[in-house]
Amino acid sequence: MDGFEPKIIGFCCNWCAYAGADLAGISRIQYPPNLRMIRVMCSGTIDPLYILEAFQKGADGVFIGGCHLGDCHYMAGNYKTRRKVSLVKRLLSQLGVSPQRIRLEWVSAAEGQRFAQVVTDFIGEVKELGPSLLNQEAARHG
Ligand code: FES
Repeated sequence: MDGFEPKIIGFCCNWCAYAGADLAGISRIQYPPNLRMIRVMCSGTIDPLYILEAFQKGADGVFIGGCHLGDCHYMAGNYKTRRKVSLVKRLLSQLGVSPQRIRLEWVSAAEGQRFAQVVTDFIGEVKELGPSLLNQEAARHG
């Protein structure tokens, strides 16, 4: 879709994905500026309602970054994240919204390059999908 720049909300764990994003920044690794990041202490704290609210308030995609499985600082937070994201994806499918609008990735603090790569890839995918139908503002302005 020409000219469409998706709004992506990113919930990133303080200990891994957020630090990975920091490393990408420090290393001057480029990635598109579409991501607005929200730092959380563990991906397991992300309530499914946060994800739905992000869509309701205008996000075209939601990125979730957590520690690799087995590396969560709160033991099993990321396993819970995986289950919650799977549920929200199924719910979105029921609403006729592509589950590809949610991306869950495990990114460590040492993976700045990987952070930039997965975010770039996700933004490209959401660009292909076009604006989200759950974006009420977009719907109001046609
Ligand atoms: Fe990073 Fe739990 S502390 S996902």
